[in-house]
This record gives sequence, C-alpha cells and structure tokens, in this order.
Amino acid sequence: MAGQAKNIRPLVAGNWKMNGVKASAAEVEAVKRALSEAKPAIPADVMIAPPAPLISAFSTVAAGSDIAIAGQDCHPKVSGAHTGDVSAEMLKDAGAEAVIVGHSERRSDHGESSAVVNAKASAAHRAGLTAIVCIGETRGERDAGLTIKVAGRQLKDSLPQSSTAANTVVAYEPVWAIGTGLVPSTADVAEVHAAIRADLINRFGDEGAAMRILYGGSVKPDNARELLAIANVNGALVGGASLKASDFLAIVRAYQRG
Ligand code: PGA
Repeated sequence: MAGQAKNIRPLVAGNWKMNGVKASAAEVEAVKRALSEAKPAIPADVMIAPPAPLISAFSTVAAGSDIAIAGQDCHPKVSGAHTGDVSAEMLKDAGAEAVIVGHSERRSDHGESSAVVNAKASAAHRAGLTAIVCIGETRGERDAGLTIKVAGRQLKDSLPQSSTAANTVVAYEPVWAIGTGLVPSTADVAEVHAAIRADLINRFGDEGAAMRILYGGSVKPDNARELLAIANVNGALVGGASLKASDFLAIVRAYQRG
C-alpha cells in the first residue's frame, strides 16, 4: 500500500472507550485466532485499549499473540492521593504496553491541556510504555482554516522531549470526525499528516521520520483501505469499529498483501 512506508511498520489500535466487560475478552480471542491463522502474516502491529479494569484480563488472553494491550489514560505521577486515577506504572504492571493520552474526549470531558498531556506522555515513557498522543482540530477550527496551526501547536505542546519512534505514536483525530461517520477528504488527511511529519522531523530528526502517525475518526471496514493508503498514514486509531472482532479485523486486513 502507498501509505505503508517501507521502514515504518503500521499500527492498528482499537480504542474501546468506556465499553466492555470481562466477557468481551471473547473479541480479543477472536482477533488473536484470526491473526495467528493469517497467511501470510499481516504486516501491521495490532493493539487493543480496553477500560482499565479489563487490562489485566485482556493481557492474559492476548499473551503469546501479536496483540498489545493499552490503557486509555494515565496520571502523570507514579502513585499518591489521586482518587480514581491510575498511573502508567500500574497500567504496565497490569500488562499494558502502551497508553493513549490526550484523546479529545479526555481533553473535553476532563479539561486536559496539552501541558497535562505532555506530563502524561512523559509518565508513559518513565514507565516503559508507548505513549499514543492524540491531537486534532474541532469543526469550528477546521472551518476557520486553523487545522494545521491547531494540530501543530497541540503536537509541539503535547510531545515531551523524551519522545522517540519506539516510545511514541502520534494520532491525528479530527474531533468532528470522531464517532460521527464523517471523515476528511484524502487530500485533507494527507495535508495534515505531511505537516505533522515535517514538524516531527524538524524536532526529532531521524526519530521523527520514523515515528508512527495514525489517523483516527470514523475509520470503518469500508473506508480503511483508502485512508490507510494515504502517505504518512502509518495506521489507525479505531473507536466504534474496534469493539467487534469482525469489523476490527476487516480494518487490520487493509494491510493484507494482494
Ligand atoms: P471512532 O473513534 O472510530 O468511533 O470515530 C475514534 C477515536 O475516538 O479514537
């Protein structure tokens, strides 16, 4: 696929948001089985980010497979008096390999600034987790022609200096495309991803050139192939369509050769 840069292995990550119970591990089992049976092997990394109470159970199910388990948020500190919060170290201890930080729902529901997101991404690095750092413009910002400026500012402020291609993934998720069935045009996605790539190279050099940039926002089985083929799109962050193994696998299979 055109968007699959030769030296960057793509990542398809499922963000389950506040959905799922222990029995939902059956979906992880189904993804695991399908990936192990795929011949040739699908050349993409696969990740599932369930709610925190399911991380341990899902990690057990995913063990020995190519599925990595991730958290959806973490506190910047290791431990302490922060009722209801979970640290990056706790996610790691429960079996997670990564954590999403700065999702637009965290930014809007919990008023998280890019400075807070930066601290959370640093915490992920400290704990040995990959930080999946989300950025993206609102509808109003896009209509005002501010997309590149907003995304660039969020990127700059949200990524800690400790970011490398191995410990950081950027997810570009236009807020207006999340859960709406709306997606930007191919040209618009290409423009934003190219701008993010240029910023990453400017700041991090070779590490920035190799960092994965995911597209997120209404990725579905029927649009995945087109979206994932766009230059500088190194995978997807999938919400609604990641809850059912069949839909999620259909998106992962966009990377199947032939
Ligand atoms: P969606 O969500 O695929 O349901 O639009 C994407 C996300 O919020 O990560």
